[in-house]
Amino acid sequence: MSWRDWVRTVEIEPSLYAADFSRLGDQIETLLRAGARVFHFDVGDGHFVPPVTIGPIVLKWISPMILEHDGAIDCHLMVENPEHHFEAIREAGGSSVTFHYEACDDLPAVVRAARAHNLQVGLAFKPETSAAYAAHAALASRVDIVLCMSIEPGYSGQEFMPEAYERIRTTRSLLPPDVPVQVDGGIGPDNIAAVREAGATLFVAGSSIFGREDLPRAYRRLLQELA
Ligand code: DX5
Ligand code: ZN
Repeated sequence: MSWRDWVRTVEIEPSLYAADFSRLGDQIETLLRAGARVFHFDVGDGHFVPPVTIGPIVLKWISPMILEHDGAIDCHLMVENPEHHFEAIREAGGSSVTFHYEACDDLPAVVRAARAHNLQVGLAFKPETSAAYAAHAALASRVDIVLCMSIEPGYSGQEFMPEAYERIRTTRSLLPPDVPVQVDGGIGPDNIAAVREAGATLFVAGSSIFGREDLPRAYRRLLQELA
């Protein structure tokens, strides 16, 4: 399975970083029933980003329920040396790894290592990184998706940076049509349509889903804004 099979024109990916971890399985089940299929899983190492977040030990408990529903787990690695984690992520049931342009000295080698573990591959870049550089590197290394960060990576609940629109447009214009642009950070009902307009088709949503009482309703609200 690949990103091409997972994405239904557009895809809203609940970001589990913002979930209530005392009820993680229930919240995933609820969102699966509401129609969510691709879940975003943020790994932070305390070096590339300040917080230590979640990793393969949590992933292995939740991957079976998502995979059983023909879903996928998109792992966003906010870490140095991302290749050190590929094997553990694959074994825990991860479907894809998206690592940072800023964290790779030898991007083609990191992409090869991910493919060797049968993982789909994404390239992320931070707000201060040139979108043109990142997009060219993504093209040259033939990644499957490109993630344009609309916040400084690290925490859920930050505000969308409006400068991201221009970076999304630039990224979209430099990539072939079969490489989706993903946006992560501060996505909600007020900006999701404009983010799509700028060229994104994969939308990561943490607090705008898990910060609400009614998760299915929050998920559907985002979908409606794209309709
Ligand atoms: C933070 C993560 C995001 C985060 C998004 O750096 O990469 O995926 O969970 O959360 P919101 O949607 O609340 O900005
Ligand atoms: Zn993320």
